[in-house]
Amino acid sequence: MGALLLFSHLDRRNRMIKHKIPNEALVEHLNRALAWELRAMLLYAHFAEYVSGIQRLHLKTFFEGEATESFDHARTVRAAISVLGGVAVTARDETPIEHTTDYRVMLQESLKTEKRAAEGYAEILKGLDDDSDLYDDMQQIYFAELRSVTEMEQLLD
Ligand SMILES: [Fe+2]
Repeated sequence: MGALLLFSHLDRRNRMIKHKIPNEALVEHLNRALAWELRAMLLYAHFAEYVSGIQRLHLKTFFEGEATESFDHARTVRAAISVLGGVAVTARDETPIEHTTDYRVMLQESLKTEKRAAEGYAEILKGLDDDSDLYDDMQQIYFAELRSVTEMEQLLD
């Protein structure tokens, strides 16, 4: 009975994380996505603080929402790295965060950030079996990034 339970646990764990590329390569891709989320969190928190004028009325809450979303994405990606036996990065991607009080520049920087995030998750998805839980998790994040890209583009229209 114990052995059976252990088997089903391992079976479930393997199904969760099935992937087509080597473990280290997948962990590396996930760590790049994690570092990008950590940067996004800071970018949005910064913009939420400095957005000014009438735009502040809406965009402060908007940027704070994006910061929270990045935090949630980072948590999911970190959990995946941990399940794969990898060590999650604790430092953000080093790409500079531009300081500005111009809300259009903020939105342009946000758009660039979301586009690059979406590209990263598209890359991760290519390395995963599409019937794994990890694929589902990464696909959900990927779709969220695409929604953000569309939203930023509409805000910049
Ligand atoms: Fe994200």
